[in-house]
Amino acid sequence: MKKSILLLFFYFLHVFVLASADSVYDSFVQCFAENKIPDAQISSILYTPENPSFTNVLESYVRNRRFNVSSTPKPSIIVTPTSEAHVSAAVLCAKKLGIHLKIRSGGHDYEGISYVSDTTFVILDMFNFRSIDVNMEDETAWVQSGAMLGELYYRIWEKSKVHGFPAGVCPTVGVGGHISGAGYGNMLRKYGLTVDHVIDAQIVDSNGKVLDRESMGEDLFWAIRGGGGASFGVILAYKIKLVQVPPIVTVFRLEKSVDENAIESVFQYQQVTDKLDNDLFIRVLLQPITRNKKRSVRATFIGLFLGDSARLLSITDSEFPKLGLTKPDCHEMPWINSVLFWGNYDNKTSPRVLLSRKPDSVNFLKRKSDYVKTPIPISGLESLFQKMVEIGKVGMVFNSYGGRMSEIPESETPFPHRAGNIFKIQYSVNWNEEGEEADKNYIDQIRQLYSFMEPFVSKNPREAYLNYRDLDIGTTDNGKNSYSQGQVYGVKYFKSNFDRLVKIKTTVDPDNVFRNEQSIPVQVQSLRGRKARK
Ligand SMILES: Cc1cc2nc3c(=O)[nH]c(=O)nc-3n(C[C@H](O)[C@H](O)[C@H](O)COP(=O)(O)OP(=O)(O)OC[C@H]3O[C@@H](n4cnc5c(N)ncnc54)[C@H](O)[C@@H]3O)c2cc1C
Ligand SMILES: *[C@@H]1O[C@H](CO)[C@@H](O)[C@H](O)[C@H]1NC(C)=O
Ligand SMILES: *[C@@H]1O[C@H](CO)[C@@H](O)[C@H](O)[C@H]1NC(C)=O
Repeated sequence: MKKSILLLFFYFLHVFVLASADSVYDSFVQCFAENKIPDAQISSILYTPENPSFTNVLESYVRNRRFNVSSTPKPSIIVTPTSEAHVSAAVLCAKKLGIHLKIRSGGHDYEGISYVSDTTFVILDMFNFRSIDVNMEDETAWVQSGAMLGELYYRIWEKSKVHGFPAGVCPTVGVGGHISGAGYGNMLRKYGLTVDHVIDAQIVDSNGKVLDRESMGEDLFWAIRGGGGASFGVILAYKIKLVQVPPIVTVFRLEKSVDENAIESVFQYQQVTDKLDNDLFIRVLLQPITRNKKRSVRATFIGLFLGDSARLLSITDSEFPKLGLTKPDCHEMPWINSVLFWGNYDNKTSPRVLLSRKPDSVNFLKRKSDYVKTPIPISGLESLFQKMVEIGKVGMVFNSYGGRMSEIPESETPFPHRAGNIFKIQYSVNWNEEGEEADKNYIDQIRQLYSFMEPFVSKNPREAYLNYRDLDIGTTDNGKNSYSQGQVYGVKYFKSNFDRLVKIKTTVDPDNVFRNEQSIPVQVQSLRGRKARK
């Protein structure tokens, strides 16, 4: 009894001590000093809310306006490391002080979990880690986690016009979250995912040690290629193998209204898209629109073909005639210009725009994901179009699978959604109205469409893509990570790879230093067993 009162006392003391940002700051300063970080460096890399730059540093990598409002919980401090020693100290100090550490690279997490938490927390912001070293001799590059995809594409292009990397479409996405979450882009049918081309990595583990592939071992190296970096360590950099692209590629964007056979085209898309030549990737956008005061849905087909337009047309004419692609729809260009085309820049834009770290605009948004394994029947598409009109603002994006994706076994990396998928769906809603009411309205809309789609998508589990972060599919309390809670979202994101991720997590981070709302849980039972055996 006395003992528990004493414990309670220490618990409240602990909470009290951590309650103010000042004391977190003081504790970190002291702990950084104990870790031999010079005072001058400490004061330049730690930001308290009183620092005039704090708000600017915090907002610089917010990519969802939902988490840029006055009610958004703010970190006690932001740590902006410029050396490995700073990262190690941040990990060791967060561990010692029991403070929740959130790691941020590009800040594109759809639920903002790299910079928001409902417990006292500190952001480890990796934006200073952004060097990119491209080595054309062995066609590789070391890319630090705070670099952005656009910068990577640009640095590759500077050295070679016939190399690229099969990563995401949005140039401001950060390497740290993207690759550790198995990022993909419009070359996935030809080359698979980013993680299929990662050959080495540098991380800081839960003991503050800097490890590379050799010293971390193949289990941990496997986990950080799709299992989410934030459950396992701080990713400093990845070494990637570049892929070859032809000197000229072809892109197209074709819009179809319902009167222009949008439904029939989408229906045929589902029959063929995963079986087409691997050089061809087609994304479909379905968007509710108002035309002549009539509400309807528009389908937009956006393509990347790793070849010229003549070969592209021979493929689409014979295998996807309902697309109705013609020569004037096809635009031939170097690969780097196709990156700009897919990024919605006009064709006069210089590739230098890829070096800009600021996105054009930031919306309030919510995303969700699904996988489709059997084509949706015509009647299903008809009711889907009707439902989208009814619901209001939510759009969908279909991304073709098949090709290289079907050849790589599910257990090769933590990302399990390989053979058997025709396409992935991203549900998408953006809005500009501020306030809880607007948030509720649009989030409710996207949940309605997700629920409508249930009969048409993967089941047991209803699979989801980690990088399309969606807290609706399950969370743990404050990242405290009970195994049973973690399993709910864990099998959706990782299917049977979840078990291996849990084992690795339990071995490399038994104290659960690296945790968040959807991190990989520690298996407490086996941990107890291990301690008992000692
Ligand atoms: C506009 C937009 C376009 C997108 N397009 C694509 C696309 O084409 N293809 C695709 O696959 N995805 C896409 N995404 C999703 C994107 O891949 C994920 O949001 C990705 O996790 C973002 O990485 P980040 O570093 O920018 O994000 P952050 O918000 O910084 O991090 C995301 C997660 O990774 C963790 N993390 C970040 N850095 C590190 C690190 N250094 N070490 C350990 N953990 C870390 C964070 O803690 C968090 O859990 C897009 C997102 C947006 C907003
Ligand atoms: C965040 O909000 C501030 C203040 O309203 C605004 O100046 C800034 O542009 C916003 N940033 C983002 C990314 O939404
Ligand atoms: C660039 O875009 C404009 C307007 O869309 C178009 O008229 C022009 O033909 C394009 N140029 C090239 C080289 O594709």
